[in-house]
Amino acid sequence: MTDEPHVKIFDTTLRDGEQAPGFSMSTDAKLVVARALAAANVDILEAGFAAASPGDAASIRTVAEEIEGPRICSLSRLNPADIDASALALEPARKKRIHTFIGTSPLHRDAKLKMSKDEILKAISQTVAYACSACDDVEFSPEDAIRTERDYLAEAVQAAIEAGAKTINIPDTVGYTTPEEITDLFRFLIDTVPGAKDVTFSVHCHDDLGMAVANSLAAVRGGARQIECAINGIGERAGNCSMEEAVMALATRRDFFQCATQIDTTKLYPASRALSRVTHNPIPRNKAIVGKNAFAHEAGIHQHGVLADKRTYEIMDAESVGMPSNSIVLGKHSGKHAVMARAKTLGFKVSKQKIEDIFPAFKRLADTCREVTDADLVKLLTGNAESDGRIGPWRMRKTELHVDMEGETRPHARITMEHDNGDRRTVRHRGEGPIDAAFAAVCAITGVPARISILDLHHVATEGVVRAEAVIDVGDEQFSGKAEEVDIADAAVAAFVAAVNQAAAVQTGRSSSSEIENVS
Ligand code: KIV
Ligand code: ZN
Repeated sequence: MTDEPHVKIFDTTLRDGEQAPGFSMSTDAKLVVARALAAANVDILEAGFAAASPGDAASIRTVAEEIEGPRICSLSRLNPADIDASALALEPARKKRIHTFIGTSPLHRDAKLKMSKDEILKAISQTVAYACSACDDVEFSPEDAIRTERDYLAEAVQAAIEAGAKTINIPDTVGYTTPEEITDLFRFLIDTVPGAKDVTFSVHCHDDLGMAVANSLAAVRGGARQIECAINGIGERAGNCSMEEAVMALATRRDFFQCATQIDTTKLYPASRALSRVTHNPIPRNKAIVGKNAFAHEAGIHQHGVLADKRTYEIMDAESVGMPSNSIVLGKHSGKHAVMARAKTLGFKVSKQKIEDIFPAFKRLADTCREVTDADLVKLLTGNAESDGRIGPWRMRKTELHVDMEGETRPHARITMEHDNGDRRTVRHRGEGPIDAAFAAVCAITGVPARISILDLHHVATEGVVRAEAVIDVGDEQFSGKAEEVDIADAAVAAFVAAVNQAAAVQTGRSSSSEIENVS
């Protein structure tokens, strides 16, 4: 496998991804994601579009100053002012690239640019050469390449190569192509354009028809040696090719693609989580590679197979993408094998008889909810087998949230909670906002060092309620809680408390596991 071609991963999460509504990022947020991308070992990191705004230029400069490893890139339209802005922002980078583009399809030429074919060719020759005088690594993209006449596209690519571009990126700007078509296009360009064999061909696909990953992989089959992609597939409209999906497809089907990337795949899930956290966009449950369900099994038959040999229903290991292994989801379809396995994972030493004893109560509980959580199982194991209550040891007794709209005092919260053992505690805490303050107070009372990871709030207008779901990190573990309240702040705090209760119940259960051993 040593002479396999290397496929470069060009990440555009911070440029194309950040352009998408709902994904804009501050410089600090961009740095968090850039660090995660550098840890994953991406080859090129497109940090922004310097001429778009002073803020974008400043973010590119900060990434260029702080991030070591990947080549840092800035996008520019095909004009000297944009190139200058990129060159300036990239100044501190150890390795840099200027990426410049112009539309070449009839629609872009006539409707948007109002330029003739010849005018565009001339602009490519002059401005790519100008970019090469400012930076030793220049990439050129004929925007909307897929809808550009093939012969004219070949002329545009040739002009860019002759002017000094080292990378030619072929964008499917509107997500219109198909796998067969794009493989053929790459073969055509690489075989017919003079000088094509001396440069790297790159692919940049959008997901309007849900084919961005398939099309990018098909371009690799046609000779592309760089994939432009984004974490969680974010990008304009339906998004870009998802990095984690393309990388894992190349890795998992290396026998078929016979190409390698340099990505540390164990950093894919952490990068996905980092992006989700800083942009406040949850990762869809069923998202390939990084979604909560990607390595989860609930059906009894699947669980039995996976427990016997994971390969029966898994083509990758959760650990290989950096996801903590937690493949068995307990629910109404689960069998005793799965309940026993989860009990062991939670640190319990239980006998078969104990599982037999709690199984009827487990099924009753599973019928009433979507998922039997670790905390529920701990409750069943620790003797409360008849109960179907889903609450841990802490009850909320009073919530007071204070915000000073004039901004003279910091927001704070005063929270009173009571433990099952009668212990009642009140704590007043400050925070960035009142909900943040309430979360901090709950942690101080319960002693659970929880960090909020995801907070989802849905206002259900027809029912006049807010449904909240909180996911918290406690050390290396995650717990979740749900709540429904009339008020949005009450719902957020109640969901957080439910998640903290899960963590507290699991901790208590673990420390009493020896008692269970005796019982069974
Ligand atoms: O989709 C597109 O065409 C782009 C270019 C700027 C590469 O994002
Ligand atoms: Zn794009």
